[in-house]
Amino acid sequence: MTEKPRVLVTRRMPPAVTDRLERDYDARLNETDEVYDGERLVSLAEGCRAILCCSSEKLTAEVIGRLPDSIGAIATFSVGYEHIDVEAARARGMRVTNTPDVLTDSTADIAFLCLLGAARRAWEGEKMLRDGDWVGWSTTQLLGVHVTGKRLGIFGMGRIGRAVARRARGFDMEVHYHNRRRLDADEEAGAIYHADADEMLAHCQFVSLNFPASPETENFLNAERIARLPDGAVVVNSARGTVVDDDALIAALKSGKLAAAGLDVYRGEPKLDPRYRELPNAFLLPHMGSATVETRDAMGFKCLDNLDAFFAGQEPPDALA
Ligand code: DGY
Repeated sequence: MTEKPRVLVTRRMPPAVTDRLERDYDARLNETDEVYDGERLVSLAEGCRAILCCSSEKLTAEVIGRLPDSIGAIATFSVGYEHIDVEAARARGMRVTNTPDVLTDSTADIAFLCLLGAARRAWEGEKMLRDGDWVGWSTTQLLGVHVTGKRLGIFGMGRIGRAVARRARGFDMEVHYHNRRRLDADEEAGAIYHADADEMLAHCQFVSLNFPASPETENFLNAERIARLPDGAVVVNSARGTVVDDDALIAALKSGKLAAAGLDVYRGEPKLDPRYRELPNAFLLPHMGSATVETRDAMGFKCLDNLDAFFAGQEPPDALA
């Protein structure tokens, strides 16, 4: 009988994924679900042939440089891969894979939940009820921003951006988008393309950020760009916290320049900027974009499909390196 490959699994996996891992691999599991730093990753990887990681682990060039030679593949349980230095992995001959497609709809759903929750003051309403402060219906209570028929600007029209656009069409929104390349007419489905991101801002009563984190997109939504938005705009971020300048966003939410923001992601997660918690017009979720049973199972299975292909000597379907 051939030995099952030993795989370091950095976080607790959904039960169905763990079952398959234990069936097909000699899995070094993380029962406590603590987040490993670089030091732990390197020592726990000893004797393993692959790593199944999440976006919570930072696989920097330095960490990758210290991984044992036995590591041939890194499969991340995420579509985003800014936490992995892919070039450093490539230089060491390691394959790197991610989980595109399977989380598109659940993440777009959360983007839309953020949009609606922020615009319609869902958190303030729920808090009022739960705190026993609701004295009854009134014509002026918790008035929010109307969503139907408004202009939505989507920055980043990849899979998730396009899925947000599909949802927006259900609300009769006029969809504008900025993307590195203009989409084909059928993909565009009536959305209005803006080659210049800064020029598009003035059209956006709602903004949805849907591009990956990278050094180029760090602090994309800064004070200058917020100033270009119409007064009372609503900003949604379901991409990564680093694409927003927190000082600028918080100042705009405090001053009323922006009506509200719906955020699912934060710089330095899980330690978000504490000022967000004090803002009634910030609708905040704890990075739940892909958090459905179906999606998390599918993400885990995708990681395993990639590792299965790697160990079978085939091209992993979602290879980044
Ligand atoms: C992703 O897949 O990138 C999600 O944000 C989870 O990290």
